[in-house]
Amino acid sequence: MNLFDVYSLWDIEPIKAEGCKVWDTKGTEYLDLYGGHAVISIGHSHPHYVQALQEQVARLGFYSNSVQNSLQHELGEKLGELSGYPDYSLFLCNSGAEANENALKLVSFHTRKRRVVAFREAFHGRTSGAVAVTDNAAIQAPFNQGHEVTFLPLNNLEAVERELCKEDTAAVLIEGIQGVAGIFVPDTVFLQGVRELCSRYETPLILDEIQSGYGRTGDFFAHQAAGIRPDIITTAKGMGNGFPIGGVLISPNFEAKKGMLGTTFGGNHLACAAAIAVLDVIKEEALMKNAREMGAYLTDKLSTIEGIGAIRGRGLMLGVTFRQQDATIRNELLSRHHIFTGGARNNVMRLLPPLSIGYGEADHFLAALQETLNRPGDTIS
Ligand SMILES: Cc1ncc(COP(=O)(O)O)c(C=O)c1O
Repeated sequence: MNLFDVYSLWDIEPIKAEGCKVWDTKGTEYLDLYGGHAVISIGHSHPHYVQALQEQVARLGFYSNSVQNSLQHELGEKLGELSGYPDYSLFLCNSGAEANENALKLVSFHTRKRRVVAFREAFHGRTSGAVAVTDNAAIQAPFNQGHEVTFLPLNNLEAVERELCKEDTAAVLIEGIQGVAGIFVPDTVFLQGVRELCSRYETPLILDEIQSGYGRTGDFFAHQAAGIRPDIITTAKGMGNGFPIGGVLISPNFEAKKGMLGTTFGGNHLACAAAIAVLDVIKEEALMKNAREMGAYLTDKLSTIEGIGAIRGRGLMLGVTFRQQDATIRNELLSRHHIFTGGARNNVMRLLPPLSIGYGEADHFLAALQETLNRPGDTIS
C-alpha cells in the first residue's frame, strides 16, 4: 500500500535525536530550530521523559475513559499550577484541531449560538470546525463551508465590536500569536479590548495557544503577557513533547454534562505520563526563563545581521523576514549547514526550537545564517 501523498517531504529521515540535535540515516547531525513543528518543548529524548514513558508503558499503556485514571488528575493539578489556571477544568484529547473542535462545540452548547468570530490568516487545524475557522479556503472542502464564521482583521477593535453587538456570536477565537500566518503578535491593547468586549457582550473568548503555549514565549501562555484571562484555552504541540495529546482548559463558568464531550484515546495513560514529565521538566529546568532569555538573545543578534528585514514574535516563537525575499535561504541552511527551520506564509522563516536551546546552539545558527546571507548572489538568488 502506498502512502496517500499529501506532504511535501525533505529527503531526510531522522532516526535519532537528543536535546536540540537530530541525526539521520547517514549519521548526519542536524540542529533543530523547528522543533518538529513547535512540538518539541523540553528537548528530544529527555531522560526523565523517556523513563516516564518506558515505565508507564511497561505498567499500563491504555485503558479507557470509563474508569478512574489518577494520571489525568495529576496532569490537571500540575498544569493548573504551572499555567496559573488552577481553577479551570481540563478536557483531554489528542491533537490541536481536536482541542479547538471541542472548544467550539462547548461554547456553542453553552451559548446555544453558532457564529464564530475569527481572524484573517488564522490557522486552527483541519477538522471540520477547526478548518472552517481557519482563513485558508484552499484547505476547506465544501463539507467544511457550512459553518458560520466571520473573519476580521487582527488588531481592529471596532470590527470586533461591530460583530459582537449583533449578539449572535458563540465565541471569539484568536491565536496567542499567529503562527502559520508568519508570526503576528496581537497588540496588547487589542487583546485587552477583545477581553473587555467579550465580557460586555457575554461572548466566550477562546485563546488558541496550541503553538504559542507551553512556555514557548517565556510565559506559559502567550496571552498572559497582556494580563487577560480567556474563558477557554486550547493547547497541544509542546504538551506531550511529541506524544500526541491536546487539552481544553475551561473556566468555571462552563457546566459539564455527562456525555457532552468525549474521546476514546484522549487522556490515555501514556499520553498523561508524557505530559506530566513535560511539566516536571519545564518547571525543574526553568525552561520558560530559558525561552525568554534565549529569545531575547536571538532577537538581539538577528537584528545586527545585514539582510534581515523584520524580526517578530516573543521568546522562542520568532519569525524572520529577509530584505531579499528568497525562498532558498531555509534550503541553504538545511543542505549546507544541516539546520532545520520552519517556513510560514509570506516567505517568513519560523524559529521554534526546543525550549532548552543553549547559547552555543544559537551562535551556531546565527553564524550559519550570516554566512548564508553573505554568499554571492548566484547561490541564493
Ligand atoms: C495555532 C494552531 N492551532 C491549531 C493547530 C492544529 O494542531 P494539530 O495539527 O495538532 O491538529 C495548529 C497546528 O499547526 C496551530 O498552529
